[in-house]
Amino acid sequence: AEKSVLGPLVGAIDQGTSSTRFLVFNSKTAELLSHHQVEIKQEFPREGWVEQDPKEILQSVYECIEKTCEKLGRLSIDIANIKAIGVSNQRETTVVWDKLTGEPLYNAVVWLDLRTQSTVETLRKRTPGNNNFVKSKTGLPLSTYFSAMKLRWLLDNVRKVQKAVEENRALFGTIDSWLIWSLTGGVNGGVHCTDVTNASRTMLFNIHSLAWDKELCEFFEIPMEILPDARSSSEIYGLMKAGSLEGVPISGCLGDQSAALVGQMCFRDGQAKNTYGTGCFLLCNTGRKCVFSEHGLLTTVAYKLGRDKPVYYALEGSVAIAGAVIQWLKDNLGIIKCSEEIEQLAKEVGTSCGCYLVPAFSGLYAPYWEPSARGIICGLTQFTNKCHIAFAALEAVCFQTREILDAMNRDCGIPLSHLQVDGGMTSNKILMQLQADILSIPVVKPSMPETTALGVAMAAGAAEGVGVWSLEPEDLSAVTTERFEPQINAENRQH
Ligand code: G3P
Repeated sequence: AEKSVLGPLVGAIDQGTSSTRFLVFNSKTAELLSHHQVEIKQEFPREGWVEQDPKEILQSVYECIEKTCEKLGRLSIDIANIKAIGVSNQRETTVVWDKLTGEPLYNAVVWLDLRTQSTVETLRKRTPGNNNFVKSKTGLPLSTYFSAMKLRWLLDNVRKVQKAVEENRALFGTIDSWLIWSLTGGVNGGVHCTDVTNASRTMLFNIHSLAWDKELCEFFEIPMEILPDARSSSEIYGLMKAGSLEGVPISGCLGDQSAALVGQMCFRDGQAKNTYGTGCFLLCNTGRKCVFSEHGLLTTVAYKLGRDKPVYYALEGSVAIAGAVIQWLKDNLGIIKCSEEIEQLAKEVGTSCGCYLVPAFSGLYAPYWEPSARGIICGLTQFTNKCHIAFAALEAVCFQTREILDAMNRDCGIPLSHLQVDGGMTSNKILMQLQADILSIPVVKPSMPETTALGVAMAAGAAEGVGVWSLEPEDLSAVTTERFEPQINAENRQH
């Protein structure tokens, strides 16, 4: 620990769908010094609905910060060395709150939520084809996934939201905005902002001009005055107003998938990473070009690391359900008691024995964008047991990634030579080997798995006025990796 305090420290809030974490890095070595994690509840009030409590999310952030500071204290590391904080977050999840009371006006409507399925179908009829104006301005297909649909639902269905908008008291934000506003003072001068990566997931943001788009807001009937300021991903937004880190600047903000791209050092055109979290998201840096997919992928803002820095774009393959299928086997079917057990079960059989699981719990995302799809388990016999189902669940994650990679290779023209991976599920060695086998390219994992947090810590530490982390390529220390090589033959792979 003594060696670690040599450099200034940077904290990272990683607010994901399943849990919140706060992590502290040494800016000189990128070493992770301490962290704390708290699980977050997901509520399913009706079939297809997914909600979370914004206040629970905020509370979990404070708890993680305080617990991490205590742990640093026990390591004799002075928290006064923490010079900046970054925020990375589950994207698209939508909150509307009252700026006078600080109270959320409804639960957060989570990205996975399907309640707007029929509205999406109606809107698709109004803007037919894959090259409609929404897609060309935002890079996104009309889908339940993005914030505009969720916000529309709140405006149509929640009286408190309608009233607050009429009385000019309502603020909209994705989780980053809600957190930054609250952490920088809330009702006492909280800063209402987001960054361009999160904004690019709302379906209201023009990814070419990097501004909220009037025509889109009119199309979705969204009042523009409730939208946050869209800023770069690396600049000082405000200072922490409470807790042990009071006064520390919040100076990094990236949607979690962009943060992982940065944390994996994918700064060059054609570099890609796949993160296995609640969902699974493969992003390929396309440089300063906005590349539009012909094969069902999204075009999204990758990062803009400073007010005067250029914007970088990515092609993204989004899979809604990855880690969430393991959670479902645990919580809904009860066939495992903790997520780690899945590996043991799968190992016992080493095959799904013809059983297939399609976890289309929230419809299917890329490359299909089919909100009406639902999950299936098939190929069952009297021989099938829970081990085979566990194996099929892991295969499902790998098959979905294979579809995304195929689409990415077709769009980019040059096939990826290896896949950089991260996220909670990558500790599962069976999954990683299966993934390499199914893709037919090596799967490469960094030795420090917290790449999302690292990415946003880098953005925060590099911000103008903070300047403790250099993003010059020669300063980026090489990450040690673990590799999984494909081991099956082409015939088995094809089968
Ligand atoms: O777009 C949703 C994504 O940001 C959620 O990430 O890590 O919670 O699966 P995660």
